[in-house]
Amino acid sequence: MPDAKTWEDHWRDEHTPWDLGSFSPAIDELPDLLPLRNKRILVPGCGRGYDAFRLAQLGAKVTGLDLAPSARRPFHEAQKQFEPFETPPRLFIGDFFGDEWRAEASAVARTESAKTPDTDEFRFDLAWDYTFLCALPRHLLLSWADRYREILQPNAHIASLVFPIDPKKPRDDGPPYALDPEELIQAFDGRLRLIYRNPPRKSPPSRQGKEELMIWSIID
Ligand SMILES: C[S@@+](CC[C@H](N)C(=O)[O-])C[C@H]1O[C@@H](n2cnc3c(N)ncnc32)[C@H](O)[C@@H]1O
Repeated sequence: MPDAKTWEDHWRDEHTPWDLGSFSPAIDELPDLLPLRNKRILVPGCGRGYDAFRLAQLGAKVTGLDLAPSARRPFHEAQKQFEPFETPPRLFIGDFFGDEWRAEASAVARTESAKTPDTDEFRFDLAWDYTFLCALPRHLLLSWADRYREILQPNAHIASLVFPIDPKKPRDDGPPYALDPEELIQAFDGRLRLIYRNPPRKSPPSRQGKEELMIWSIID
C-alpha cells in the first residue's frame, strides 16, 4: 500500500495521473437519488477537490479530506474555478482512518451550528467516494466500510462511484486497485446495505464501462 509519503510525493512532484481536470459527471445524477441540499458530505481522498466543489454548487455542506499536505494548494487553486458557493467546502489534511481531522471537523461543526451536540461524535450525512476506495489495497475493504459506520450518521448513505471495474487486472496491482461490485456486495454484507446500483449515465471517455454508481446505507 502506498504510504502517506508516497501520496505526498505524488502531490509535491505534481504527478497526479488520476486527475481528470473536472468533476465526475455522475455527481449530477445524485440529486435525483439522494437529498443533497444542506447535507454534510464527506469527500475522502478528494485530491484537487473538483467533486467536492460540484457537490457544494449543488447546495451541500462539503468537507474534503486528503492525506497529502501538498494537495492543499491545488485544492484551493481549483476552488477558484467553482466560486461562489453558498457554503464553501472545507479541506482537512489527514488520514481517513485517523482521528485528528475528525476532531477538527467536530470542532468546526460545533462553531457552525448550535444544534450540533457538544461531543466529538460529529457525523456526516453522506459520503461521496470516488477513486478513494481504489486507492486502498483489498485488505482494507472492511476497514473502509467500518470507518464509514463510525463517521456517518446511522441513517446516512455512501455514494460510491466504483472504479476501476477491470476483471483482467491482477487484484494486488495498484493503486488503482481493480474493484468488483459483486465482491463488494458480499464483503459488506451485514455492514452496508446496497440500495442502488447502475452504471453512471455519463463517464469520462477513458473510464467508459469501468464505473458503477453504488449507493449504500449503513446497517446499525
Ligand atoms: C487516486 S487519488 C484520487 C484523488 C481525487 N479523488 C480525484 O479523483 O482526482 C487518491 C487520493 O487519496 C488520498 N489518500 C490516500 N490515502 C488516503 C487516506 N488514508 N486518507 C485520506 N486521503 C488519502 C491521496 O493523497 C490522493 O490524493
